[in-house]
Parts: sequence; C-alpha cells; structure tokens
Amino acid sequence: MFAVTAARIDADDPLAGLEPGDRPEPKVPDGWVLVTVKAAALNHHDVWSLRGVGLPADRLPIVLGCDAAGIDPDGNEVIVHAVIGDPDAGGGDETLDPRRSLLSERFDGTFAERVAVPRRNLVPKPAALSFAEAACLPTAYLTAYRMLFEKSGVQPGATVLVQGASGGVATALIILGRAAGYRIWVTSRTEAKRERARELGADQAFGNGERLPERVDVVMETVGQATWAHSVRSLRPGGRIVICGATSGDASPAELTRVFFTQLSVVGSTMGTRDQLGRLARFLEQTGRRPEIDRVLPLSAARDGFAAMVEGDLYGKIVFTP
Ligand SMILES: NC(=O)c1ccc[n+]([C@@H]2O[C@H](COP(=O)([O-])OP(=O)(O)OC[C@H]3O[C@@H](n4cnc5c(N)ncnc54)[C@H](OP(=O)(O)O)[C@@H]3O)[C@@H](O)[C@H]2O)c1
Repeated sequence: MFAVTAARIDADDPLAGLEPGDRPEPKVPDGWVLVTVKAAALNHHDVWSLRGVGLPADRLPIVLGCDAAGIDPDGNEVIVHAVIGDPDAGGGDETLDPRRSLLSERFDGTFAERVAVPRRNLVPKPAALSFAEAACLPTAYLTAYRMLFEKSGVQPGATVLVQGASGGVATALIILGRAAGYRIWVTSRTEAKRERARELGADQAFGNGERLPERVDVVMETVGQATWAHSVRSLRPGGRIVICGATSGDASPAELTRVFFTQLSVVGSTMGTRDQLGRLARFLEQTGRRPEIDRVLPLSAARDGFAAMVEGDLYGKIVFTP
C-alpha cells in the first residue's frame, strides 16, 4: 500500500528523511482492527518525529501520522484516537499510562491507505462532519479541548490569551473557546494571520510581545521560547499558563521570580482521553463549529504540506487524502 514514512532522522532538515512509497500491509494483532483511511491530518508532531524528537532512529522506517478518520471493517465511519495506552495503567486516563505512545511513535501511523489500531481507539464519526474535518480532531482539537475544558480552571466569560494564532492547536483553541463563551485574545507574527484569527472569532489580536489592554486569566502556550516571557507578564495575579508545546524551543529564562511573586500556575497538558474525543466530536456537532482547514492535499503530495508547516506558512490544519 502507499504510505508516507520517516526513513531517516535529520534534526536540521526534517524533509530529508521523508519518504513516500510502497509499504507492507499493516499487521493486525488480536484486539486491533484495520481502518481504511479516508483523511489524515498533519501535526507538528510529524515534523518533530523527522527531527528525531520522540522518535529514536532504531524505530525507522515508520509510517508517520497521528490523526485519521476512515472506515472500520464493519463499514462504520470512525475517528481514530491517536493515544495507544492502557487507561488502567494511568489511573483511568490512557494519556497517563507510563508506557503510552502516539500512533507513529511505536506503531505505524495514519499517513497510509490503511492503519491498524486497537479496537477501543475507534470513536464514531458524526455524519455532520466530513472525513477531512473529523481527521483534524484526534491531536490538535483534542489537545485544545483538554486545555480549555479540563486544565484551564476558568469558566466561560474568562479571558484566554492564545499565543501564536495560526497553528493547528491555536486555531482549535480559538474555535472551541469562542463556541464555549470564553473571551479569546490571540498573538501572531503577521497581520494577515491576526486578521484571519479575528475572522475565526478571536475578540482581539496582538503582535508578539505586545502589551495587552489588561491582564488575562489564562494563557494557552504552544510556542515556548518566543512567547514565554510575554505569557508570564500577561497574566493576572494567580493566573495560569496551560502549556502543551514549545515549537520555538524551551523557555529561557523561566521567569521564576514573576511566577512565585504573582502566584502563577504552570500546567502541562497532553492530548486527551478516548472519551474526551467522543465528547469533542459531539461538541462540534452541537455547536455547528468546524475545524479550520488550510488545505487538503493528496497523500502523494504530503511533502508540500510538511514544507508549509516547517515554514510556518499555514493557517489551520493541513489534511491528506490517500
Ligand atoms: N502535548 C500535546 O499533546 C500536543 C498536542 C498537539 C501539539 N503539541 C505541540 O504544540 C505545538 C503546536 O503544534 P501544532 O500542530 O499546532 O503546530 P503548527 O500548526 O505548526 O503551529 C505552530 C504555531 O507556532 C507558532 N510559532 C512557531 N514559531 C514561532 C515563533 N518563532 N514565534 C512565534 N510563534 C511561533 C505559530 O504562530 P504564528 O505563525 O501565528 O505566529 C503557530 O501558531 C507543537 O510544538 C506541537 O508539538 C503538543
């Protein structure tokens, strides 16, 4: 079958290790099923994998891709939960299983015509969502859902600052947060992206590092180094940073003095549970909101999508169709 694999690790030139081509059919262990992929979404995770972050060279070659929507062996339309883990080993939450992985870390991922996954990882796809829309949910939208509704600790009406408005997680935060009644402020590197964020529902959009009209209740961080100091400075006393990523690198300095003096919390967040993925799908069905898709490409043109992500030349999700 046709698939897009990580064949080599290159920290500086991630596209160098990207290999589209023929791959053996997936093996399907007991308790797993084969899903025919109709759409698969690109995440920054796939770029990190090619750079060797979270993917050691001894696991190569491996099919990339965490997210998919497709058809199960019984003909049902499904969304594939990307977290391969045992909820019992994580106190009821598979993301806390010490041995958990994401699709494409230990097991072949979704950038293929077919993918094998544990049966428990299938969530029904609402008919109202297209396959491309549904494919955006398992990583970026699920992560945003948990950051907003489980980790933020604030109720609708609170002011939430989203750093870096154009990415997959960031646009998900704007869409879900706005639909739930939060006041969403964003930052972005370009005016064109700030304008699109306003169109998507952001209440106000600022340049990176710009002073805000007032301090916010919560900051949603995915950027890291480039925005960290601004995140710490932008919070009201007792406020909270929820962080799920550090695209521009680790934060230095950590601004420890301000963290303790204004009694801030820093809360890490990663993915979400299978049950949260089901509720997320229903949330979109009920609110009528849909994932923001930058472009849909044939899987054979995956390299163009990866290049756009490496350059930061995107707004929302890039989706591949096998
Ligand atoms: N922990 C988890 O479960 C989890 C889940 C999903 C994602 N993540 C992580 O979260 C991060 C975002 O993922 P994604 O898939 O949304 O990536 P993406 O679509 O490539 O988005 C990248 C984002 O980073 C911002 N950015 C990048 N470099 C920047 C810089 N130098 N200065 C300011 N902003 C910069 C961009 O903002 P502008 O261009 O608008 O300024 C954009 O919002 C990644 O590091 C990813 O690994 C973690």
